Amino acid sequence: MHDKEINNKINDLREKINNHNYRYYILDDPQVSDAEYDRLMRELQNLENRFPELITSDSPTQRVGAKPLAAFESIEHTVPMLSLDNGFDQSEIREFETRLNKLLLPLDVVEYVCEPKFDGLAVELVYENGIFSVGSTRGDGQVGENITQNLKTIKTIPLRLFDKEVSIPEKLEVRGEVVFSNKDFKKLNQQREQAGEPLFANPRNAAAGSLRQLDPKITASRPLDIFFHSTGQIIGYEFDSHWQFLETITKWGLKVSPLRRKCTSLKEVFSFYDELVEQRESLPYEIDGMVIKVNNLDQQSRIGIKTRSPRWAIAYKFPARQETTQIIDILTQVGRTGTLTPVAVMKPVNIGGVEVSRATLHNQDEIDKKDVRIGDWVVVQRAGDVIPEVVKVIESRRTGNEKKFQIPNTCPVCGAHAIRIEGEAAVRCQNLSCPAQVKQQIKHFASRTAMDIEGLGDKLVEQLVDSGLVKSSADLYYLTTEQWSGLERMADKSAKNIIDALEKSKHINLGRFVFALGIRFVGEHAARLLANYFKNMNNLKKASYDELLSIHEIGPQSAQSLVQFFDEPKNIKTIDRLIQAGIQFEKVKTEADQVLSGKTFVFTGALELFTRHEAEELVTSRGGRASSSVSKKTNFVIVGKDAGSKAVKAKELGVTILSETEFKEMIEKKPNR
Ligand code: IVH
Repeated sequence: MHDKEINNKINDLREKINNHNYRYYILDDPQVSDAEYDRLMRELQNLENRFPELITSDSPTQRVGAKPLAAFESIEHTVPMLSLDNGFDQSEIREFETRLNKLLLPLDVVEYVCEPKFDGLAVELVYENGIFSVGSTRGDGQVGENITQNLKTIKTIPLRLFDKEVSIPEKLEVRGEVVFSNKDFKKLNQQREQAGEPLFANPRNAAAGSLRQLDPKITASRPLDIFFHSTGQIIGYEFDSHWQFLETITKWGLKVSPLRRKCTSLKEVFSFYDELVEQRESLPYEIDGMVIKVNNLDQQSRIGIKTRSPRWAIAYKFPARQETTQIIDILTQVGRTGTLTPVAVMKPVNIGGVEVSRATLHNQDEIDKKDVRIGDWVVVQRAGDVIPEVVKVIESRRTGNEKKFQIPNTCPVCGAHAIRIEGEAAVRCQNLSCPAQVKQQIKHFASRTAMDIEGLGDKLVEQLVDSGLVKSSADLYYLTTEQWSGLERMADKSAKNIIDALEKSKHINLGRFVFALGIRFVGEHAARLLANYFKNMNNLKKASYDELLSIHEIGPQSAQSLVQFFDEPKNIKTIDRLIQAGIQFEKVKTEADQVLSGKTFVFTGALELFTRHEAEELVTSRGGRASSSVSKKTNFVIVGKDAGSKAVKAKELGVTILSETEFKEMIEKKPNR
């Protein structure tokens, strides 16, 4: 290809990808499959690898990959980023209108645009001739921080504006709110709790914390989104109204909330407010009010601004979702995975229309950090579908009679030891037969990759535990035919099927059995390593921390967890009963069978000869490791149909690529000794 042709090809690919991004992220109406999109991205990536001189800052490949910064540089906003005055009830909004009318002419007819007030982090983005050049935080309104590389990682931010329908201005400073969805916030905090990291107090803090990362890779791993709502300086385009601004920037590819309304009277404003209050609970993002703006920009400029806020807009706030109440007691709840969670029992309080009498205190670290005590008056917050939580203690209301709280070191449900593993925030009950954990444990035990007990689905497990028939996985093997067929919706035939499946599961390899026990930090791979090393259950049970650590790929976290698990007499009893029930271990393979020992495999694309799980089993049962991502340490990548970016990466890294047939031949080869 000639230079010009290559350039055209690259431009064509970028345009296609930008278009698909727009359809996917802004319109939520994709036109192509993910595979097709990946193919275009790969093609562009390959061309850019070959011709790096043709890479531009707005290329869709440039979202991630920037190096971590030492510090953020300061950026002065061309036009100050203002804040908004607040109104809390209808009378304050009427006063706002009275003020407006005084500043306008008698013949002026005021039209409003109402939109959600997003509870996120305000940012400004500069587009020069349609290309995203600089992005910054609000800072103090005059000077913010340059967070361009972090903003580039947000998929809903276009790196280049569309100019098909409406031509783009020479310069556009556009402002918006970066938000974190309630669902992702909950997930992120759960992960942080597991990892013993401090929790974010709310989605807004999670958005702020994610954007203020010096390493853009961390930002890229956080699911941030943005809604644009206002402008800074614009050169080369004139708008007549705010509504027209919102409609136009949507055509340029900038995301604007669909929840907006033009209103010609306060009656309409109040009715839209009521609608938003209703919708608030079911929205994926936090909004804390409705912004009312004068639509006509000429009127806006005649009305003018104050030092820190415009006179032509107001935030009509929603009822608070924080209230003050008193903690009567602190209880300890046991979660599905045995985590002991402290829960504050409070004097009931109505928070934004919902009565709240319990709030999570997360873990001991959070209790200590906030210094929460029984009897304390506290601020409680409820947000979206997130569990209510204690925000802070009102220390001035202490009487001296408050009592400190310590999470117990025994499980409040079953009395077994509850232990905090080093590096983790949570205290966990170590008892495999704790009723609060049993359901989850049994579901795992019966699952396909563990004991593979066909027909023992979630519903059935719940019934068995709730009826008291099953208190540990071992009980499954001691139920009589009558007990099985006496269960709800259990026909004789199904009972027989389950009994057969249980019989079948008794012949199992040791690795699967160890995995089925559901020991924390002992996944399928670790379980197999342990089985290969110890050869039988007795040796494993007696293993010391140091011996476990001496096994390649077993780390301190798994080692400690194993020692604690086998220290718990209830767990030993369950294992003994399982073996008494007739569980028999297949012979552990000898070293000679471990032909793939030390080799790492990655499978990508649609496999035709095996299921993904079968293929991975073939590797792991021969001592190899199946991984999901390609790195320099990968030995083989097996490509199925429509293999994606992993195959490309393998090529780049010089990793051996095999077809499925080649892989099959490889594993069928007998060991050469
Ligand atoms: S208009 C000059 N529209 O609220 C007017 N702001 O308290 C200010 N905010 O930092 C911008 N949602 O980032 C506007 N729909 C919306 C908004 C919104 C949230 C933020 C804004 C500003 C803060 C002002």
